[in-house]
Amino acid sequence: QAKLVETSKRLAAFQAVKDYLLPEYTRIGIGSGSTVVYVVEAIAALGPAATAKMAFYPTGSQSEELIEAAGLHLQYINKLPAAQQLDVAFDGADEVDDDLNLIKGGGACLWQEKIVATSARQFVCVADFRKLSARLGTSWTKGIPIEVLPMAAPRVLGELERMGSLGPRIRPGLPGKAGAIVTDNGLWIIDAPFAPLQLSRDSASTRSNGTWTVDALADSLIKIPGVAEIGLFYGNNGLEVASGAQKPVAAYF
Ligand code: A5P
Repeated sequence: QAKLVETSKRLAAFQAVKDYLLPEYTRIGIGSGSTVVYVVEAIAALGPAATAKMAFYPTGSQSEELIEAAGLHLQYINKLPAAQQLDVAFDGADEVDDDLNLIKGGGACLWQEKIVATSARQFVCVADFRKLSARLGTSWTKGIPIEVLPMAAPRVLGELERMGSLGPRIRPGLPGKAGAIVTDNGLWIIDAPFAPLQLSRDSASTRSNGTWTVDALADSLIKIPGVAEIGLFYGNNGLEVASGAQKPVAAYF
């Protein structure tokens, strides 16, 4: 199974790069996680002549190192003028539903990932077959990653329970390290499990009592005081006007 998963990630990454990294592109976002390693491999395989004019924008320290190790030109999203967009951004996901809504943040980089994804004209998701579920929360049962201000964490946990989350908890630090995991932004992550999330197009009668749609849950979570960002990449919410949509234009498995 492990070999199959790696093969699936690699094939998906090479296909996504073939289809979505056009030779004229100059600004490319690179996400985080183990699948993105193959995206960078596929880009590097195009050769220095093909990538000479391209700059690559990371979503955290891991992708920063990947870009540098591959000999690609590293650039930072805070250097991108507001009037410009990335041509495309590639990133992994923890789960993808039938409408290409995503759960992300298993690697705790969700805030930067959302900034890079929404800075791109096109956002492409690369994943392996285990990540595809009809509804979010089916295969990824650890919960929706939510980046929070540490001082607000107890109140956010209480609010999540009131919203029906089934055992939300602060993500612990790496094994052997006491306390909570600390993100690149100095914040904590709460993982909030919910019953599988419905799509907005699902009819009300198919929704069991108390189940959330992706959009309604996302809109409520982001409003909780102390929440910095959430690991639901969903809908469009008007964001496509000013910047890229949060949902990918395509997902490869
Ligand atoms: C990182 O914060 C995540 O959003 C990753 O994109 C996601 O966890 C996928 O990671 P893998 O490619 O390692 O499964």
